[in-house]
Amino acid sequence: MTAKRIRTIAVMTGGGDCPGLNAVIRAVVKTAINKHGLEVWGVQDGYLGLIENRMDRLNFNDVSNILTVGGTILGTSNVANPFRFAVQSGAQIQYTDVSSDCLRVLAERKIDALICIGGDGTMAMAAQFAKKGLTLMGVPKTIDNDLYGTDVTFGFDTAVTTATEAIDKVHTTASSHHRVMIVEVMGRYAGWIALHAGVAGGADVILIPEIPYDLGQIGAYVLERSRRGKRFSIIVVAEGARAKDGQMVVSKRIAGSPDPIRLGGIGPRLADQITDETGLECRAVILGHVQRGGTPTPYDRILATNFGHTAIELLLKGCRNHLVVLKDGRFSSIPLGRVAGRIKTVSRSHPLVQAARAVGTSFGG
Ligand code: F6P
Repeated sequence: MTAKRIRTIAVMTGGGDCPGLNAVIRAVVKTAINKHGLEVWGVQDGYLGLIENRMDRLNFNDVSNILTVGGTILGTSNVANPFRFAVQSGAQIQYTDVSSDCLRVLAERKIDALICIGGDGTMAMAAQFAKKGLTLMGVPKTIDNDLYGTDVTFGFDTAVTTATEAIDKVHTTASSHHRVMIVEVMGRYAGWIALHAGVAGGADVILIPEIPYDLGQIGAYVLERSRRGKRFSIIVVAEGARAKDGQMVVSKRIAGSPDPIRLGGIGPRLADQITDETGLECRAVILGHVQRGGTPTPYDRILATNFGHTAIELLLKGCRNHLVVLKDGRFSSIPLGRVAGRIKTVSRSHPLVQAARAVGTSFGG
């Protein structure tokens, strides 16, 4: 059976934003129009725009001058799930499946394929849509770098750069005041940002979800540094890190979101615990959404351009319902069904963990 000819596509950005989204949109739209003469639509605010039938035609000029701009010109949402859409009914929230309405909206506009730029939540829903007959291609986005199947996601390099700059700044004040300074970074259930920014920023201790820590070990480590004349320490902690006998710190729960748990707050909690444990003065800073903003690094601009271009080329060669990936230095793709419901975490034997340990960095466990 030959694949249906693609004449009209739509593009959307779903989930939390990150630097490089606009660079992908630009690559998708320009490749589609320039090289293949396709008609392109931009869906507003992720799956929410699909549910509410909000989209606009995108032309060349709409994507001009956005390569270096953070965020997404299309808007995004990380609370709308078409398969379990939250509707307020009086004081209650009811969940309904509106996925067929989304398919009808696309069919009425004669859209042959949807380019979904997003993380694991967006891809899980894309895989469900594929099962219902929609033609899609996914592009891997997230500062967390936790998407399964690709070595790297765009947005990650920029977030690591931002976090590293923050760690560098915290270093000087830690040194002046002889304090233990804790920098809490994002990353959800994966420690990629903490590991990379921690190594790049020369952190003394790096705490990640994949290696539960022992508070006693961290205390002993910073006290030993003090005894050796190092009167300050830098700890980089991932928001999803937890003690061996503890739980992750949840900052809030978002009703209706595909993943309702929002992590955050381990940094200040740890600061109090380390002061109690060691008697050393400790301060914490939570970087939060700063890591999601700003202009993408050159690496992310290039990666995003390659991802967007590859998505269109593969689609027009007949590839369907795949996620574009960068694997071992090559752009290729894997079926969306293999990505859904999985995340990529840091292994204890990862080369960067080994290198960090070799230069004396503690993982607290
Ligand atoms: O997935 C990206 C991310 O920034 C995570 O690192 C973080 O846990 C989460 O999104 C925050 O989500 P929100 O923008 O809903 O607060």
